[in-house]
Amino acid sequence: MTISTMTRREALLGGATLLALGAIAAPRLARAASPAVLPPLPYPENALEPVISANTIGFHYGKHHKGYVDTLGKLIEGTDFVNQTLEEVVRTTQVNPNRTAIYNAAAQSWNHTFYWNSMRPDGGGAPSGALAQRLTADFKDIDGFRKEFTAAALGQFGSGWAWLIEDKDKKLRVVRTPNADTPMAQGLKCLLTIDVWEHAYYLDYQNRRADYVAAWLDKLANWEFAEKNLGA
Ligand SMILES: [Fe+2]
Repeated sequence: MTISTMTRREALLGGATLLALGAIAAPRLARAASPAVLPPLPYPENALEPVISANTIGFHYGKHHKGYVDTLGKLIEGTDFVNQTLEEVVRTTQVNPNRTAIYNAAAQSWNHTFYWNSMRPDGGGAPSGALAQRLTADFKDIDGFRKEFTAAALGQFGSGWAWLIEDKDKKLRVVRTPNADTPMAQGLKCLLTIDVWEHAYYLDYQNRRADYVAAWLDKLANWEFAEKNLGA
């Protein structure tokens, strides 16, 4: 989109481009009648306390996420985009430099719904089952994944996202994307994400992004959601 190839390349750990990872099926999120719909939170606003306060979730979901959805609705009103799924809008506009505003609003709408589902009350800790086996195979051990995911989340300069994805070779990888960019736009299978825009943690952690990321992995990561996406 507006991000140069070099910037996108630099946004990924290991120096590989998203394009080099190849096309894979998208994660399955519930489809709505219009691409510009704010899905309900999967839990009450205070359900993630004390790691993330109801105040943060209230602003993040009720103002930021809703703002992206409302903006998308206005931008696509009267266009053919209203007949597309949100995923289709993201992929279509990602390659069109004249559609940057729609792409940003659509990608952020999708990313945030994926983020809410990447967390759960009493989550975090060590994953188990098939996901744990895959993480161990591709990151040496669970701690190896944790270190790489944390490095991506902390290493994203400015606003963005850190992701666990499955690449075209069925290998699990950690990537990071700036601003609204999403691996889904490249057709990659997203498993889990953490929002590292300041609005995700500043009310609770101020500038201590590392504390937010550590608490997120310890207490909130929704491994069941990641495993479900892995099998999708
Ligand atoms: Fe956000």
